[in-house]
Amino acid sequence: METELSRELGIEHAIFGFTPFPAVAAAISRAGGFGVLGAVRYTDPQELARDLDRLDKLADGKPYGLDVVMPAKKVEGVTEADVEGMIPDTHRGFVQEVLTRYGVPELAEGEASGWRITGWMEEVARNQLDVAFDYPIKLLANALGSPPADVIERAHAHGVPVAALAGSAEHARRHAAAGIDVVVAQGYEAGGHTGEIGSMVLVPEVVEAVAPLPVLAAGGIGSGEQAAAGLALGAQGVWLGSLWLTTEEAELHSAALTRKLLAAGSGDTVRSRALTGKPARQLRTAWTDAWDDPAGPGTLPMPLQGLLVAEAVSRIQKYEVGELLGTPVGQIVGRMTSERSVQAVVEDLTRGFERAVTRINRIAGRSAT
Ligand SMILES: Cc1cc2nc3c(=O)[nH]c(=O)nc-3n(C[C@H](O)[C@H](O)[C@H](O)COP(=O)(O)O)c2cc1C
Repeated sequence: METELSRELGIEHAIFGFTPFPAVAAAISRAGGFGVLGAVRYTDPQELARDLDRLDKLADGKPYGLDVVMPAKKVEGVTEADVEGMIPDTHRGFVQEVLTRYGVPELAEGEASGWRITGWMEEVARNQLDVAFDYPIKLLANALGSPPADVIERAHAHGVPVAALAGSAEHARRHAAAGIDVVVAQGYEAGGHTGEIGSMVLVPEVVEAVAPLPVLAAGGIGSGEQAAAGLALGAQGVWLGSLWLTTEEAELHSAALTRKLLAAGSGDTVRSRALTGKPARQLRTAWTDAWDDPAGPGTLPMPLQGLLVAEAVSRIQKYEVGELLGTPVGQIVGRMTSERSVQAVVEDLTRGFERAVTRINRIAGRSAT
């Protein structure tokens, strides 16, 4: 699976893996792909530095990248405490009511909420970048829109290309105009924040919209055949997020959640605002149902919703409360049926890719090369 972009980055397979876990990112890179560590959960820059140290050691000299969540629009002088103060009491009451309904225990006295994803506040993301450029990252990706112009310049000054996720051709055009180097066309099927256009329609639209910029196909890719489809649509690589969640290297820290993922079918996800305030695909649970119920108070906009539910999500995860336990994951969860090593997953992807190429060559009346 070699493309111009994979050759430029010095990787064997044009398989890009987004993951919140350093050991998974390193294993993807060691297996010949390109691991990208998600930084959104690191509110403490020192913790990010520790995990980048670990990733760097484990990657064995192979290239890897970092993904931040930085909005293009800056909100001046707003702190996390200011944002906390904007959360209505009715919503706080609703969180307590749902937690009580399912008997979710409190955290211990003084125990901090482990699930804080305030990394999309610009100040937090900028602190992450101060750390990131001390490491030999080979790609900086951004989730929500194009990063601010000075961040793109800073990355370029370090010789680091910048990628950005796009859910429509319009988004992708804006990225190209902002000076982005690689566009990740992420379809509706994908885990995490996602738009409304399926990958089959989106990928060729984005390829045409930003040509000659390289495009990675994302959303709904869990086999080599699906990867081949992405490349057939004009992408220069594939970008996968969900598939790594059930690898042996993943640090989900919840056997119950892993079991839930392995048992889930492709229809068991929902695009809900319950986690962050923006539509994000995740496992459908009693928690997402409660927030999506028209009888409830409804969700708050980003970043209020993320702050509102942070402690509750930590409690649900810590005590593994089955009905409420969830995670962002895409429709491809239906193919995630066994725990395997990252190496085995990458080998499976490349084998499936070869099968697809052989089949298409046969259909086209050519012998496989
Ligand atoms: C658990 C999880 C967390 C995610 N968090 C982020 C994120 O912080 N930043 C980002 O750019 N994309 C994030 N994504 C989206 C992935 O980068 C990727 O585009 C998506 O997973 C691809 O679709 P797939 O889930 O069908 O593989 C996340 C995806 C998952 C499954």
